[in-house]
Amino acid sequence: MNYTLHQLHIFSIVAHKKSITKASEVLYMTQPAVSIQLKQLQDQIGLPLFEFIGKQMHLTEAGEKLIECYNDLSGSLERLETEMDSLKGMKTGSLSVSVVSTGKYFMPYILGQFRLKYPQIKIKLEVTNRLLVKNHLMENITDFGVYSVPDQSFKTENLGFLDNPLVLIAPPNSPYKKAKSFKDLNGAPFIMREIGSGTRLVLEDVFEQNSITPEIVMELATTEAVKQAVMAGFGISLVSKYAIRQEIKTKALTVLELKDLDLKTQWSLLWVAGKQLSPAARAFKDFLVQKQFQLEEL
Ligand code: PGA
Repeated sequence: MNYTLHQLHIFSIVAHKKSITKASEVLYMTQPAVSIQLKQLQDQIGLPLFEFIGKQMHLTEAGEKLIECYNDLSGSLERLETEMDSLKGMKTGSLSVSVVSTGKYFMPYILGQFRLKYPQIKIKLEVTNRLLVKNHLMENITDFGVYSVPDQSFKTENLGFLDNPLVLIAPPNSPYKKAKSFKDLNGAPFIMREIGSGTRLVLEDVFEQNSITPEIVMELATTEAVKQAVMAGFGISLVSKYAIRQEIKTKALTVLELKDLDLKTQWSLLWVAGKQLSPAARAFKDFLVQKQFQLEEL
């Protein structure tokens, strides 16, 4: 039989998602590209792997058997890679980390310092949203995820490695600069992150705790977009202090100093419970445990 590991991997994601569209998002491939690979695999196997009942995709008996064998195979391949990396004494190996939006303001600095220590390890950093970080962990596409607000919907092990102070930001000429406490922000225009964002969860909690009814003027999917909208004068928002280091220096943004605001979460490294970490991944975890990195003071 003449099929590839890549085709088997695509098949496993489609089988898990029960949808070519959803699988293509996870795989960063187009739908036709996924369909072509599946068709080639199916032609090689010589049996249909999927069937449709109504609009719902199901695995055939051959598909079920194939996924079973693929799971065994991918476990063995993972062990093989780990063993080979150990034999090479960590001279090579790769590390992949998927972080949520705000992670892009500190993770490259941490990974850069890790690379100075282990120059041969190939590093891949994916900056995305919480849902995709979770998917990457569940599909075993990444070694680690990084969140600040924990996601209780699936079981992970985690290591807190960095405090995450959160601040309210406004444009420099904002009338809310004079606000002293939360109640002075009642009715203020707020820019929210997308549903699912950890920062949004914290802000919603703050509204509730302080009985604030904000005017939500827009909802944006990244911290960078939020910063731009605040600088453009559309409203106030909550961001990690790591995200605004430059804007504070250049005075492009103001931090609202409220006496009743002291918000802090913690950045954590997550991995699927029970996952066997590769030597490169273990080295990165130890690097964080031993706090072998330094970040500019906030
Ligand atoms: P985000 O990250 O709000 O940038 O998505 C914070 C988190 O997930 O905890």
